[in-house]
Amino acid sequence: MCGIVGYIGSREAARICLEGLHRLEYRGYDSAGIAVVRDHALDVRKVVGKLLNMDASLAEKPLPGTLGIGHTRWATHGKPSVENSHPHVSMNGRIAVVHNGIIENYGELRERLRAEGYVFKSQTDTEVMAHLTQKYYEGDLRAAVIRAVKDLEGAFAFGVICADNPDVLVAVRRFSPLVVGLGEGENFIASDMGAIRKETDRVYVIDDDEVAYITREGVELTDLEGNRIEREVFVIPWPAEAAEKGGHKKFMHKEIHEQTDAMHNCLAGRLSAPDRPIQLDGLNMTAEEIRNLRKVVFTACGTAYHAGLVGRFLMEYLAKIPAECDLAAELRARNPVVLDNTLCVPISQSGETADTLVALRDMKEKGARCVSVLNVVDSSIARESDGVVYIQAGPEIGVASTKAYTLQVMTMTLMAIHFAEVRGTADPALLRELKAEMLKMPAYAAELLKREPQVLAVAERFYRLEDSLYLGRGVNLPSAMEGALKLKEISYIHAEGYSAGEMKHGPIALVDPELFTVAIAVHGDVYEKMIGNIQEIKARSGPVIGVADDGDEVIGRECDAMIWVPPVPEMLSPMTVAIPLQLLAYHMADLRGEDIDQPRNLAKTVTVE
Ligand code: F6R
Repeated sequence: MCGIVGYIGSREAARICLEGLHRLEYRGYDSAGIAVVRDHALDVRKVVGKLLNMDASLAEKPLPGTLGIGHTRWATHGKPSVENSHPHVSMNGRIAVVHNGIIENYGELRERLRAEGYVFKSQTDTEVMAHLTQKYYEGDLRAAVIRAVKDLEGAFAFGVICADNPDVLVAVRRFSPLVVGLGEGENFIASDMGAIRKETDRVYVIDDDEVAYITREGVELTDLEGNRIEREVFVIPWPAEAAEKGGHKKFMHKEIHEQTDAMHNCLAGRLSAPDRPIQLDGLNMTAEEIRNLRKVVFTACGTAYHAGLVGRFLMEYLAKIPAECDLAAELRARNPVVLDNTLCVPISQSGETADTLVALRDMKEKGARCVSVLNVVDSSIARESDGVVYIQAGPEIGVASTKAYTLQVMTMTLMAIHFAEVRGTADPALLRELKAEMLKMPAYAAELLKREPQVLAVAERFYRLEDSLYLGRGVNLPSAMEGALKLKEISYIHAEGYSAGEMKHGPIALVDPELFTVAIAVHGDVYEKMIGNIQEIKARSGPVIGVADDGDEVIGRECDAMIWVPPVPEMLSPMTVAIPLQLLAYHMADLRGEDIDQPRNLAKTVTVE
């Protein structure tokens, strides 16, 4: 997904933009560009491919100037090329624009501008903004930007500079994320806080249809009518190093290893002892409202959807509320029935995923109360929700979601136990046991991380195979689906996550010695059935990697290789199972030499539908 950065101050803008762009690399990109104002002229540099090309280009020929904007592009309109990469420049060469989002009416605007004599150099939607700003410019850049965005439909976060205004950077947003970083004698813009965290911990989070007028001395926020907006400064609660790799080879590896601390953070203030009730502040619901619930609809994309499937299971099992879980991109099409007292739970790491945001808006319109489970504070989904329970995972940079998944599951488990407590729908002894085990979860995570060499050994045996099946049942069907997604997205090994019960209805035809199966067979309601499924695969000469509780000799004898996990109540096992499956995917991808933090064709945050 595109990333934008901008700088105004007394230092070299291009260097600061480039550093910020490096921190946005995790969003995924195919080309990059930087524009600066110098001596009342624009200087623009663009490269296709990795930012290393921009590093080399600036090292060879610097781009001096103290006002600049930078961009990493993830192609949506027009192929990756120098012409299509940002910044885009107005026809008169005076105004440069960087953009994240999609201008939906750009075709119509392009025709109109063409008829007025504007010449387009790229196939992008963004170029219309550069020309429109020129069209409306009468010496006041902010006024021109405001007038231009009023013509636009769609999503955008823009950074705009003008050679005739060397002391001004203008930024504006609608639906795409944007923050303004506050410095001393210098200020910044960026798509997310991590990009500029090294420079400052003080930011304004910009809302839809808000404009930031940024000089070296200060920042003025207005709406599109020019009315001043007072905004509290948000102090970024995590240190700069949190956005760096911290000694790990890859962000994904670092984030897998952060799960012990992250689990502590997630539980903090919510669960203190097995005999104390759970507190979930952000939920924003009274006990009566929880008791009156008639239906819960979880909705999310990708990994977060798998967490939602666990949520659905626990909500019905413990809180006895009819529950559904929909892929966000499918929710509208299904047109679900919203009863009185329906709760919708959108789940998202970034809080910016367009499909999830649209699903939230749809469900709100239908009358559902929406309480989101998110990681990024003050994100678009957070702002439109009736309540937000944060997973408190800290920044997740690796494209493949790891700690966010485990913490989404943890948060959903807290929510289901809490609802069960309030509604009195589960045996108090069971709830006490679950809470006691939840408190031990960080220690289980630490233990699982210590066992990484065992997982690496399994990866070494199987990473050359090209096909795999991940099987699970019940609460661990989502674990199988998530394990398969993790493997396929970073190693490009074909992986399918399936209900083990469905095997005999088709997928078993695939089984042969060249396809490995990961079978999740921890103790619980579906254990015996999983043993049967493992035997069916073994009978067809398929190699099986078992995921089972420590000391389970039965499974140990059946399988070709084992991943052992500490035994926990079955309801909680999606959290313990997730960690070694993340490590398995990581090591297989690493052994295959893949670009783990930036897998091909993927973006960390998908802000288009
Ligand atoms: C996979 C992955 C994606 C995201 C999905 C939703 O590892 O990260 O499937 O889970 O794009 O993103 P968020 O959670 O930001 O809404």
